[in-house]
Amino acid sequence: MTPPDRIEELLDAARTAFAGGTLVQLKLGGYHGGEPDLKAVLIKKINVKGGEKYSFTYRYKTRDTIKNFTETEALELLRRGLAEEFRSARLATTEFDLMFERNGAKMRLKRTEVDGREAPSTEHNRTKNRPLTETARPWLKALGLAGKNGAIRHDAQDKFRQINKMVEIFAPLIAALHAERPLIVDMGAGKGYLDFALYDYLATVARRPARIVGVEMREKLVADGNATARASGFDGLRFETGTIMEYDAAGADAVIALHACDTATDDAIFKGIAAGATLIAVAPCCHKQIRRQMTAGKPDARFEPLLRHGIFVERQAEMVTDTLRALLLELNGYRTRVFEFVSDAHTPKNNLIVAEKDGRVSRDRDAVLKQIADIKTMFGVEQHYLEGLLEG
Ligand SMILES: C[S@@+](CC[C@H](N)C(=O)[O-])C[C@H]1O[C@@H](n2cnc3c(N)ncnc32)[C@H](O)[C@@H]1O
Repeated sequence: MTPPDRIEELLDAARTAFAGGTLVQLKLGGYHGGEPDLKAVLIKKINVKGGEKYSFTYRYKTRDTIKNFTETEALELLRRGLAEEFRSARLATTEFDLMFERNGAKMRLKRTEVDGREAPSTEHNRTKNRPLTETARPWLKALGLAGKNGAIRHDAQDKFRQINKMVEIFAPLIAALHAERPLIVDMGAGKGYLDFALYDYLATVARRPARIVGVEMREKLVADGNATARASGFDGLRFETGTIMEYDAAGADAVIALHACDTATDDAIFKGIAAGATLIAVAPCCHKQIRRQMTAGKPDARFEPLLRHGIFVERQAEMVTDTLRALLLELNGYRTRVFEFVSDAHTPKNNLIVAEKDGRVSRDRDAVLKQIADIKTMFGVEQHYLEGLLEG
């Protein structure tokens, strides 16, 4: 009698769950193939214009890549992957979990029944799947996004889409925080678009109450923000006037900063590290500090062609600045990822650095310090502003 083919059994179960709308997630782990830094692949069902697709998120050490496949393509990839490159998989459906393990040619499949698990929505980039569906909110009107009739204004559609995208990115990061009612500090909050959206979503949709403080040096914005928070009944959201460096962030579970200008991003990162925040997430803005040093300093002569054209100096400055930020965060015990949070059609400043404090991170400090020193030498950088803050 031929032994049961565990891979085909798993694929059959995945196909049935996909067709029946009971698929929660299929996760492949134990990768031992040739792609550097690939950690896992997460697969879910999505509905896009071309119909139902298997969406594969390839999770690398510091980034995610998403690719969508038809069923035939997906099953073929899975068949090959499970036979050759992944040692484990977990198929989660609304009814059961199937754990797959492979050790050489030996394969095991274990089924566990589950109760009360819901399948996630499969809608993709559709208006109705936006986290914020209720548009008749006082804060949306106060921030000029919704008109008198409570509908999002025509000229604010893009901004509303971006805010939803930010909520989509931040909500799971906040949900992963251990604190019962986490304290999130938004540095350089401006009008507080994200703070209102996130607070509203967490309180009313996700039911994961949080406290949010927006720190902003412009008094008028702070006064307006506080008035709107009160009018919205958001008692856990408030704004404080002052600079980032003046603000005492002790007790913050998350420190975020979106497009805080130039080194204000570093102030925010520093405050997050000093407070021991579990999550630090920043979308940097301009990169003048490092650009100035690169231009005035003595980069490695071999890089001259890379730094000859102004536009490329700008881009190199961005990469050097944010790479050093990521390394400095790692040096301080944070697992760090950098990815694009919105399309560059909306804003060229679309990188997000997400750093999560992870007690298990054990990077070789000397090796990280050497990488930092090497990058600085290569690009003629004397000191990254954040280094100065961290050195005290
Ligand atoms: C480009 S706006 C971004 C606002 C908001 N985060 C957003 O994404 O909509 C930057 C904001 O940061 C504030 N800001 C810049 N540097 C700051 C500092 N050192 N301390 C406090 N606020 C600061 C500015 O006043 C401005 O409102």
